[in-house]
Parts: sequence; C-alpha cells; structure tokens
Amino acid sequence: MFILQNEGKLFQASYPKAMQGILGQYSLLIVSGEHHRKLRGITVSFSAMSKSSPVFHSRIEKLAFSMLESWRGRREIAFLEEMKKVKKKKSKFTLSLMVKTVLSIDPEEPVAMRFLQDFRTYMKGFISLPLNVPGSAYAKAVKARARLAMTVKEIIKQRTTSSGEENGDFLEVILSKHSSIRQMNDDEKVSSVLDIVLGGYETTSTLISLIVYFLHRSPAALLAFKEEHEAIRRNKGKGQPLGWEDYQKMDFTRNVTKEAVRCGNLVKFLHRKALQDVEFKGHLIPRGWKVLPVLAGPNLDPSLHHDHLQFNPWRWTKEDKEIGKKTMGYGGGPRVCPGSDLAKVMVAFFLHHLVLTYRWKVKEDEYPIAYPYVEFRNGLQVEIEPVESHV
Ligand code: HEM
Repeated sequence: MFILQNEGKLFQASYPKAMQGILGQYSLLIVSGEHHRKLRGITVSFSAMSKSSPVFHSRIEKLAFSMLESWRGRREIAFLEEMKKVKKKKSKFTLSLMVKTVLSIDPEEPVAMRFLQDFRTYMKGFISLPLNVPGSAYAKAVKARARLAMTVKEIIKQRTTSSGEENGDFLEVILSKHSSIRQMNDDEKVSSVLDIVLGGYETTSTLISLIVYFLHRSPAALLAFKEEHEAIRRNKGKGQPLGWEDYQKMDFTRNVTKEAVRCGNLVKFLHRKALQDVEFKGHLIPRGWKVLPVLAGPNLDPSLHHDHLQFNPWRWTKEDKEIGKKTMGYGGGPRVCPGSDLAKVMVAFFLHHLVLTYRWKVKEDEYPIAYPYVEFRNGLQVEIEPVESHV
C-alpha cells in the first residue's frame, strides 16, 4: 500500500514499453499526474452514476437471462469459457455487457461482433511477445487496436450528428458538454472507452467463475448464499426486475465476492517504478528501478488472516473489522480500480439468477491456475441441472 499511495511522489505506474503500442499513449494505465487525474475523473463519475442506474441493472439482467437460457437442455458447460468467449456469432455475458454499457451497441448488431472480435485480438496482445512482425499476436493486437479506434470514432461521429436521443452510456458522458470533458481529444475518448471495456471484461467473468468454484467447495456458504437470494426473490415476486435496493440487501453476496477476490487474486501484481531513491523498511530502492507490488501478498498473508487459505465469507462479517484494509484486490491509492462497484453489481445480479435457475457441480479435476491471468484447467467444467423454482 505504501507504494500505491505514493503514486506520483515516490513511485509511478510504469507498464512495459511494448504495452504502450497496444494500449495507446492516452490509456489510464499509461498517463500520469494531472492528465491521469482528469481522464480518471470521467471514468469514476461514470461508474458512480451507473452502479445504481435502472438502465444498467436491466442490461445486466437481460444478458444474464439470455446466457442462462442458452444453457437449457445442456448438462455440462465450460463455465469460464461460456462467460468470456465470442463464438458462433454470439458474444458472452461480460463483454457484451461492457460494450452495451459503454457504447450502447446490442450484441446482435454487426458492429458489435466486429468490435468484440477485434477486442479479443487486442487483449491477446498483452500476453504475447512484443514483436511487431507480421502475423505475430502482438502485431495483430496493434492492428486490432487501430480498427477499434476507427469503430469508436465512427460511433462518436454518428452520435454527435444525431438527434440527441439519451442512451445512458459512457459515450454520453464523454460527449457531454461538461467543460473538462469537452477538452478531451478523440484519441483520449477512444482510450477511455477501451480502458473501461478492458478493465471490466475479463476480470468480471473470472470473478464470477471463481465464486462458482468456491461456493461449490463450501456447501455452508452456498446454502447461505442461496437463502439470501431466495428471500430477495420471495419479496419481489417472479419476473420483477432487480434494483439498487435489492443489491443493498445482498450482504452475504457482497462478502462472498470480497472473499473470492481475496482468495482468487485476479490481479497478481502491478507495474510501478521508483521516481527517486526510496528507503523502505531498511531497504534501498534505487531511482528508476521497477517495483512490482504483489497484491496476493497481503491477501494471503497468514499473519493478517486467520486460516488464510480457507474460503470463508463470514470473516468479512464477524472476525475482523479492519479486514478491508488488509486486502488489496482492487489496488490502492490514486489508481485504485474505478470500476469495482460496477463489477460487484454485475456479479451479484448475474449470480442471483444463476443460483435461482441452476444447481451446479464443479468437476473433480478443476482448479484455478495463473497463466498468467487466472484461468481454470479446462475452462471450469461444471455439471448443471435446472432447479424447480420454489419462489
Ligand atoms: C473483479 C473485477 C475487477 C478487479 C479485480 C479489478 C482490479 C483492478 C486493479 C488491481 C486496478 C489497479 C491497476 C493499477 O494500479 O495499476 C484496476 C484499475 C482499473 N480498473 Fe479495475 N478491476 C475490476 C473491475 C473493473 C471494471 C468492471 C472496470 C470498468 C468498468 C474496471 C476499470 C478499471 C480501470 C479503467 C482501471 C485503471 C485505473 C487507473 O489507472 O486510474 N475495473 N482494476
């Protein structure tokens, strides 16, 4: 936390040079200082505005229904693959949701398919060798980024010349007449759009998958989780949409999510460099050195967490009032994740419908691995069975 809180003073975000070619010079992960503060503010306000918006909630539910419906008649699925993949002209839950939330593109529109496929190619570049030679994953990612930029610019152009219909999406925020936003150039707007989709897509699908995995291995937690959602549904009645007040009642679900973030360690480490010689706990970090804060360190520290390897959502209610300060799933300091609240609502609403629609059993030989992102051995193979609705 010392490193993250001293962002811009003693340390600064510093992703490998090669990644700049893919991210672009205006990505939040690349810019620093005042420029970072200005661009970040827009993402933060969007997140604050959307998390309680009925439009955002109904988008989550619509895509969740469509995903769960597509599993009817199937007995086994590769859960994480289902959440992430773009295949058979259908994109999956989180990527479609991010694209809909940011640009108001429906998954069925041809531009959506193009965007989603380019986006996957763009993402593959981050874990490739940074060789800009034709045919390499890196070169494909750079080209995909250029196409994504063109698509976003086209959409911006259409929006600025159209009649002004309200979409409640991120684009609307960055095209608003607010003075600091008006000063953004088109490349900054494109980067902000791609940052949000990038930040929210893979992390959220993986987090949902980790929760499915951990709940299967913890029957007591699954029972408490199910009871919470059944009670919420009983009070609402069938088919009634979820809202912000329902989310606020999902206390146990939020604790399950926090515990899955602690145990799952979705983001392993961050990239920083020392801006000056820094002395910390008797060690000297010379100026210019790279520093990689490992978030799993505090999350899994046995001196900070009792039974540290145990998935135990109750530790967030009973054990320790300070636990939030001892975990770092979403980073910290001036770059702390601006989308964490959106992720929590997406996770809670998707899982509400999942747990009321299916029971699941994770295959014996499945477990999470870091490769370098969190994945499952076989895409998280689970057996599913529809549940008779009692509520
Ligand atoms: C489970 C979900 C998520 C996890 C674990 C997560 C984790 C993180 C972490 C650790 C950082 C800090 C990066 C750094 O300091 O270098 C970060 C930054 C960021 N996240 Fe998330 N994130 C999640 C969901 C989201 C969502 C849903 C969005 C978008 C709506 C998002 C957008 C961003 C952006 C734009 C940044 C860059 C912030 C900056 O540099 O100022 N994230 N995230």
